[in-house]
Amino acid sequence: MENKEAKYNLLLKQVKATLEGESDIIANMANLAAMIHQTFGFWWTGFYIVRDGMLVLGPFQGPVACTRIAKGRGVCGTAWAKDSTIVVPDVEEFPGHIACSSFSRSEIVVPIHDAEGNFVAELDIDSEKLATFDDTDALWLERIVADLWK
Ligand code: SME
Repeated sequence: MENKEAKYNLLLKQVKATLEGESDIIANMANLAAMIHQTFGFWWTGFYIVRDGMLVLGPFQGPVACTRIAKGRGVCGTAWAKDSTIVVPDVEEFPGHIACSSFSRSEIVVPIHDAEGNFVAELDIDSEKLATFDDTDALWLERIVADLWK
C-alpha cells in the first residue's frame, strides 16, 4: 500500500493520544481496533485475550469471529505458542488455519505482553486480499500495541 509508513506514523500518534489517560484494557482495545480498522479498511481487526488457558475473543471490528482458540491452533494459537508475530501472505497455505470467514485471504497476528513480559493477548488482523501484510506492518503494529497492557 502506498504511504503505508506515513499512515502508521500518524496512527501511532493518534493511538498514543487516545489511549493516554484511560487505563481500562477493554476500552483501549475497542478504540484501538476501531482506529486500525478505519485507517486501513481491513476485513477484520481485533483482539484475543488469554483467559483460563485459552484465547478468548476480545473487542473487534468486522464480521462475527471464533470465540475460543486453543494454544497452537490456527494462526492465532501458533503466534501464542511461539510468542512471536506471524505474517501469513496466503491463509490457505498455513497448516491448520482457522477460517472464521471465507473472505479472509491473508493475516497478521501480533503478541501483546504485560509489564512482566508475559504473553497476555494478541492483535489479529485479516485482509480479504492476498499478501496484505509484510515486515513493515509487523514493525508498526508491534509499536502500536507495545504499551497497551503496561
Ligand atoms: N484465522 C485465525 C482465527 C481468528 S479469525 O481470523 C478472526 C486463525 O487461524 O487463528
